[in-house]
Amino acid sequence: MKERLEALRSEALAELETVDSPQLLNDLRVKYLGKKGALTEILRGMGSLSAEERPVIGQVGNDVRAAIESVIETKQAAFVAAETEMRLAAETIDVTLPGKKPEAGAIHPLNKVVQEIEDIFVGLGYTVAEGPEVETDYYNFEALNLPKDHPARDMQDSFYVTDEILMRTQTSPVQVRTMKAAQGKPIKVICPGKVYRRDDDDATHSFQFNQIEGLVIGPNIRMSDLKGTLLQFVQLMFGKQAQIRLRPSFFPFTEPSAEVDVTCSQCGGDGCRMCKHTGWLEILGCGMVHPRVLEMGGYDPNEVSGFAFGMGVERIALLKYGIDDIRHFYTNDLRFLSQFVRM
Ligand code: DAH
Repeated sequence: MKERLEALRSEALAELETVDSPQLLNDLRVKYLGKKGALTEILRGMGSLSAEERPVIGQVGNDVRAAIESVIETKQAAFVAAETEMRLAAETIDVTLPGKKPEAGAIHPLNKVVQEIEDIFVGLGYTVAEGPEVETDYYNFEALNLPKDHPARDMQDSFYVTDEILMRTQTSPVQVRTMKAAQGKPIKVICPGKVYRRDDDDATHSFQFNQIEGLVIGPNIRMSDLKGTLLQFVQLMFGKQAQIRLRPSFFPFTEPSAEVDVTCSQCGGDGCRMCKHTGWLEILGCGMVHPRVLEMGGYDPNEVSGFAFGMGVERIALLKYGIDDIRHFYTNDLRFLSQFVRM
């Protein structure tokens, strides 16, 4: 029996030598040391041994078991170590590699200009008001002294939803809404927003664009207040050297009305292609609020007066950044937009 045990040890150790997977190792553990394994099988014959032989063979059996177990354990540990090493190698992170830089978004140049204009006027004590883009004919035209069939309506070809509802063609209706809400109290607001006109899109026209309206109402508001305010605005927006000039014009909701030019930012007033060699660029329309508009807004034109102005955001942005085509603002080409990230 001792020989059989010794033979078993040799066989087991030889076979364990060739093991190359944890699975196989486990199979061998079962084969040699399992409950129905070879060792148990041999030791089952112990019952027939004499009392002297039994402890001796028992000892040999234990030695054989220990020897096999020891090899199995060593192998097991080696497999675990190899496995860990492989995982470490596969999952290694090189913390010195440059990271993937997340793309930083940026505020759209048009919104940037709106924010800048808002900041300037808020600094002058104005509040910001907004109104609906789908507007009634009454607010968009009638209450601004543009009754039905008024020829000046042709200046703003409109998208009508019904006979009485349209996409607003200007931010001026917010003037009326603000007046009605203020119920006779003084007003100092600007109203930024989108407007819509039936225009064919080209380098300077778009069926949808942005305006900022301004309205000031109170006792003794004069044309000089308007002019001073606009000069202040223009110098904060385009630089201290910028000057303005007012040219007489016509708007149904203001009287007198004017168009305002700013010194050409490209040539500083000397004359260049951008200003068509005049030295001036038109930037907005303005005037003293028409008495009839004040009345329709709930104010007594004998007690208060006011001024108003309206500017196109795209136009201001074109001039400020020297851009030649407003379509760049809408096509969202990142090569264009990314130039404004750090501006
Ligand atoms: N609403 C005018 C337009 O879209 C711009 C404008 C001119 C607004 C004069 C005003 C103003 O408030 O006083 O052409």
